[in-house]
Amino acid sequence: MESKLDILRKKVIECTKCELSETRTNSVPGKGNFRSDVIFVGEAPGRNEDLKGEPFVGVAGKKLSLALENAGISREDVYITNTVKCRPPNNRVPSKIEKETCQDYIKNEIEIIKPKIICILGNTAFGSILGGTEITKYRGKIGRKDDQLYFITIHPAATIYNQGLIEVLKQDIKKLFELIRELKNGKDISIDIEFSS
Ligand code: URA
Ligand code: SF4
Repeated sequence: MESKLDILRKKVIECTKCELSETRTNSVPGKGNFRSDVIFVGEAPGRNEDLKGEPFVGVAGKKLSLALENAGISREDVYITNTVKCRPPNNRVPSKIEKETCQDYIKNEIEIIKPKIICILGNTAFGSILGGTEITKYRGKIGRKDDQLYFITIHPAATIYNQGLIEVLKQDIKKLFELIRELKNGKDISIDIEFSS
């Protein structure tokens, strides 16, 4: 039987709700384990993602995989997606209207997977999901909004030209999975920031 996630995938693949559908090669639905405890949310597909129709398969994706492997986690264990599912031309930041038009898809992914925690990767996801800015100030922190937990970290692409930041990303991802272990063991987690809805 077709799962809810399969149906959503098809909707994303066929979507023409915003103008990014005119310039994309492929839409990029989320990918990974539908039983994952965590959903990773990036910004939008880049060139490689647009060509392949899969999230985080380019250089930024390699950095994310590296940080996951360092924490003993394989990509296949988790679910990875983006705030916007089609590539903006020349990798520009998605516009407000594009983010708004696309947001039902990520809301649905979250409803279907019901992750214990959502990992925000970088400023665009931080802004569109939590209304936040200044990722460097908030990275490594645990947030909560409408009873959903969030973990905030930098975008893996930020580590490409700044070697120091790969260590930051690795540390954060390790902390995230320690947190997930604690959540599974029923431990109380202390929340750093409450976000209003
Ligand atoms: N950057 C993103 O934000 N998402 C991807 O899927 C790839 C690169
Ligand atoms: Fe549809 Fe989102 Fe792609 Fe726009 S970016 S066409 S809303 S899937």
